[in-house]
Amino acid sequence: MKTLIEFVNEKQNDFSYASGEFSRLLNDIGIASKYVHREVNKAGLADILGYEGTQNIQGEDQKKLDVFANDQFIKALKHGGQCCAIASEENDELVTYDNQISNNGKYVVAIDPLDGSTNIEVNVSIGTVFSVHRRKSEPGKPGIESDLLQRGTEMVAAGYVIYGSSTMLVYTTGNGVNGFTLDPSVGLFLLSHADIKIPDGGNIYSINEANYIYFPEGVKEYIRYCQDDDPKSLRPYTTRYIGSLVADFHRNLLRGGIYMYPGTKKNLNGKLRLLYECNPVAFIAEQAGGKASDGFRRTLEIQPESLHQRTPFFVGSKHMVEKAEYFMQYFSKDFDTTK
Ligand code: AHG
Ligand code: MN
Ligand code: MN
Repeated sequence: MKTLIEFVNEKQNDFSYASGEFSRLLNDIGIASKYVHREVNKAGLADILGYEGTQNIQGEDQKKLDVFANDQFIKALKHGGQCCAIASEENDELVTYDNQISNNGKYVVAIDPLDGSTNIEVNVSIGTVFSVHRRKSEPGKPGIESDLLQRGTEMVAAGYVIYGSSTMLVYTTGNGVNGFTLDPSVGLFLLSHADIKIPDGGNIYSINEANYIYFPEGVKEYIRYCQDDDPKSLRPYTTRYIGSLVADFHRNLLRGGIYMYPGTKKNLNGKLRLLYECNPVAFIAEQAGGKASDGFRRTLEIQPESLHQRTPFFVGSKHMVEKAEYFMQYFSKDFDTTK
């Protein structure tokens, strides 16, 4: 079986910026994720559960595992020397390294080190999500914020790791999507899901329906549509919602479905962060033949203005996202932030 390292090296030439450095960066992310996997799997045993006692920029309590995962990825990317700056959910400001090798790094990374943290203590799937851009600023100095504030269309790679019943790493460099399952006995990611394609349609919709009363009319209408009885189609669909974007998306990627985190009147931009949650997932969705939008425009075309910016998010099977967009455009024009 092919290992992640073998695969990345082999595919290096398909990648427009072919360089050993880029392969090294992906491998470093893979290595850090194995340490996170190890901690996740002994979470019930080690004194790692619970709150760290600190808050991140969004005012959310940080869990110990959030902090551990963040440290692992930052450390791994530092040692590699290819990355000159990181935007992380767990750091208010851009993370840079004060060393010459990293300052010469060509890439910047945006990362949610631990996604779905409310699920850590209840043994439910969690993840890591990341995106990679080439820096815009001159090498030789630390990366700067504008290196991170590039559109998703400029991404050179994106991926996620899901720590579920098995641990998997799924990534794209713009030439399709491939998935690797960790064999923990030998500590290797092995190619298990080559060239993943998301079904054009599906019967799963994933949304936190407890927020129903706050949803835009378009989302309410789409949910009604999903629940309609139509013997000719798969409706009524089925609801699946884990509360970890990575895990919810991963299931829908393999089975066909839609994940939604819409804006509300109170929070027009919803909850999910553009740079390190929506963009990487959107890139993978598109590369697998699916779609991602804020209901009105393609996620990857949104011009980021700040590191922790949020955006409404509709992602998954092409036909399902198009249908949700249709309802948004018909019933909820007032939620269109591009107007
Ligand atoms: P994080 O744990 O990184 O803060 O992200 C949680 C996100 C996302 O993973 C998940 O889909 C969503 O928040 C769940 O939000 P609700 O609890 O509001 O449904
Ligand atoms: Mn998250
Ligand atoms: Mn997180």
